[in-house]
Amino acid sequence: MFSGFSRRHFAKLTGLSAFFGLAATPAKPADGDARPAAERHAPFPFPNDFVWGTATSSYQIEGAVNEDGRGRSIWDTFAHTPGKIEDGSNADRANDHYHRYKEDVGLIRDLGVKAYRFSIAWPRVFPEGSGAANPKGLDFYNRLVDELLNNGIEPYATLYHWDLPQALQDRVGGWQSSDTSKAFGDYAGYVAERLSDRVKNIFTLNEAGRFLNFGYGWGIDAPGLKLPLGELNQARHHVVLAHGLAVQAIRAKARAGTKVGPAENIAACVPAFDTPEHVRAAEMATRELNAGFLGVILEGKYTDGFLEFNGKDAPKFTAEELKIIGAKNDFVGLNIYAPQFYIAASDRKPGWSVLPIPASFPHMNSEWLKVGPEVIYWAPRLAAKVWDIDTIYISENGTSSEDKLGPDGKVYDLDRIMYLRNYLSQLQRATSEGVPVKGYFLWSLMDNFEWIFGFEKRFGVYRVDFETQARVAKLSASFFRDVVARNGIGV
Ligand code: BG6
Repeated sequence: MFSGFSRRHFAKLTGLSAFFGLAATPAKPADGDARPAAERHAPFPFPNDFVWGTATSSYQIEGAVNEDGRGRSIWDTFAHTPGKIEDGSNADRANDHYHRYKEDVGLIRDLGVKAYRFSIAWPRVFPEGSGAANPKGLDFYNRLVDELLNNGIEPYATLYHWDLPQALQDRVGGWQSSDTSKAFGDYAGYVAERLSDRVKNIFTLNEAGRFLNFGYGWGIDAPGLKLPLGELNQARHHVVLAHGLAVQAIRAKARAGTKVGPAENIAACVPAFDTPEHVRAAEMATRELNAGFLGVILEGKYTDGFLEFNGKDAPKFTAEELKIIGAKNDFVGLNIYAPQFYIAASDRKPGWSVLPIPASFPHMNSEWLKVGPEVIYWAPRLAAKVWDIDTIYISENGTSSEDKLGPDGKVYDLDRIMYLRNYLSQLQRATSEGVPVKGYFLWSLMDNFEWIFGFEKRFGVYRVDFETQARVAKLSASFFRDVVARNGIGV
């Protein structure tokens, strides 16, 4: 009887909220304060000049894979290989952003954010990876950048979000060859020379750790290779060399004042709990567990621990290469989703240990996405301490959610709001303590092609119907708009 009542009661409440149409309307304060969001004081504010933005990537949203001279990328090949993508889809059309970019810029503007991180498809600009450029390819980004600026949105461009020209994979084995590093440097210089009159911030590589390990080590992502450790480490070295060559080329070709840095999925460490011993242990672990990417980029050398651990499988390198790799960055982008390593102090060498994570640890709609909001506090704090970084951007953070369209045509993604509310609280804790995080890019603006998950996983604050291409704001878009307008959280 009681449970029957409560179910009916619950159904009624759900119906009511749907009736009032909560989703996609600007959030109203519960206390009846009628002032616009920007005038309402947030008890947990972010710094005044904090940059709020959203992020996407070329292959995940653009579509138009055969238009205006674009070459093939390794992801075109991979997605068209049977069995590689869970729902059998590919990104030939994706969000059709190539044709709908004006509408999509409108969506960004409606969030109230003043920054947008997008990526440039290398095979649009150099269809063969190197050699002759395809001016029509870069034209698309000229149009996009102009549209963003006309709407008061600052463009942050990423040069590589995994869509390597297939021609480079075929010719030289992609990241297995330093020819690819050199080609990347040339491409970076070409783009910087032409866009830096309007694009002031450039990310080089997105998540080197992910695309290298998943694509060349475990065979899960494109190009689907499973290299032995020695060859994988050599490819890893070519990737960080590519970053360094790109920094050099951008400094040489871009307008003075153009800022450059990586966007890395740092191996995110969290102290088991907050004691000085565990925090110190987490600092040491942060340095060692990131030695193959962020570490060598920020220190200009591989740690002794990294070289010892890899032994005969360590990469071969020259002093000159290390100098290039270690060129000074203007900022460091950290993509932070889930805590990866909980660290405890240890009496045994090396002074820290990685704790096993229980199977019962909660996760979001993507199994890999563990819910640990404290990671967005600890990862930048530890990174800033270990490498003395003065400017950090959270270049990605967000979550997937079931994101079903309700009968009222709206999406009540309360789990995403829960996630963002908690993560942003921890980020606010970081900035209020002086951790140098200068901006935050929400992943993602809209649902898109989620790599091996196809269209089954949705990360957007706008829902996309991939049949009709209709975009609908989810409730989380209202939440985020409110945070951005008030530059803070809490009521
Ligand atoms: C980030 C990537 O690692 O995670 C994004 O930079 C990606 O491109 C996001 O969309 C979600 O990852 P996945 O593996 O669940 O598709």
